[in-house]
Amino acid sequence: MEKRIAIVRGDYIGPEIVSEAMKVLRCIETKYDHTFIYDEVLAGGAAIDATGECLPQISIDALKQADAVLLGAVGGPKYDSQPANNRPEKALLRIRSLLGLFANLRPAILFPQLADASPLKPEIVQKGIDFVVVRELTGGIYFGKHETIGDRAVDEMAYSVDEIKRIAKVAFETAQVRHHKVTCVDKANVLDTSKLWRKVVQELAKEYPDVTLNFMYVDNAAMQLCKDPSQFDVILTENMFGDILSDEASMLTGTIGTIGSASLGSTSIGMYEPIHGSAPDIAGKDMANPLGTILSVAMMMRYSFHLEKEAKDIEKAVHAILDQGYRTADMMSKGMKQVGCQEMGDLVVKQIENN
Ligand code: NAD
Ligand code: IPM
Ligand code: MN
Repeated sequence: MEKRIAIVRGDYIGPEIVSEAMKVLRCIETKYDHTFIYDEVLAGGAAIDATGECLPQISIDALKQADAVLLGAVGGPKYDSQPANNRPEKALLRIRSLLGLFANLRPAILFPQLADASPLKPEIVQKGIDFVVVRELTGGIYFGKHETIGDRAVDEMAYSVDEIKRIAKVAFETAQVRHHKVTCVDKANVLDTSKLWRKVVQELAKEYPDVTLNFMYVDNAAMQLCKDPSQFDVILTENMFGDILSDEASMLTGTIGTIGSASLGSTSIGMYEPIHGSAPDIAGKDMANPLGTILSVAMMMRYSFHLEKEAKDIEKAVHAILDQGYRTADMMSKGMKQVGCQEMGDLVVKQIENN
């Protein structure tokens, strides 16, 4: 199979984790006789450094040519003084919007090997954590009007019926191939957008009689995640709530460093990135956990290329390496073997070769 992959390395730890994920991509190419054509695309801080713009037209053109996009992470202190419309984070939002990537799947799955790294009590962890946050990604407060007039600032949050329907459909379909439960998280006791979400989701649920639907306020959901995460199967929620809850969920599984994501939508191009940011505090120290990016590559194989065997092979290798006790600093616990970012990447590659 021949596929064109746009590579956005990004900023701070971005290039470090993407390098390890690319080792995995090359290993998959060799093992399964595929050809991946890599297109290096500048976006975010790296693009500002090179061109002054966070997302130059040449990058947009290259992204649109790709079959899939792999992105590290963008942003960091060097770029915090950029005007709002040229911040690295703005580039990321534009990419999501330009590629129509309205559905962001963020799995929160506790690898049993990492139970000790979870901050939750063992009796809670033992019940298991295995859910997916289906986060709306191209609407809501991120994409409303942002305005500061004098000593007053406004961020507008808006959703249309169609925007809600299409993401809810993804959540129901995801639940159908999982444990048949959707929890729609909102703030319907206050927000009109949430009230509309409830109405649309309730109506759509009739088309999925095999899926149980419940609603939960976001403040309660944040608490329930710590109290009993085993109650969740698919969490369906709007853009900002999904951003916040998925970071919380990641930590319950031990570390934010192992969680990958798939952003899918109205075109055939999918984007794959870890859910964490550019981690400026550990950049350049070979300390970053590359597993979130490597597992994002597995999601790319599965969702964009329909290469299930390759996806499973990568996931199996990650499990095996964790079984063998290898950990980056963020997921260290007693008795484990600490390795750096590059060694972790090498270990996964070697494991895939031997799987
Ligand atoms: P962050 O996710 O970068 O870091 C939060 C904490 O988690 C830090 O202590 C960091 O060291 C740790 N961490 C994150 N990823 C890790 C990994 N792979 N291995 C080990 N430890 C890891 O969040 P932040 O500090 O709030 O944001 C830093 C910058 O990243 C900001 O500019 C922010 O806007 C940007 N950001 C970008 C993305 C993205 O590109 N998708 C996502 C989130 C944040
Ligand atoms: C993420 C990030 C982004 C978001 C930022 C950098 C715009 O936090 O991918 O989770 O909030 O979507
Ligand atoms: Mn985030």
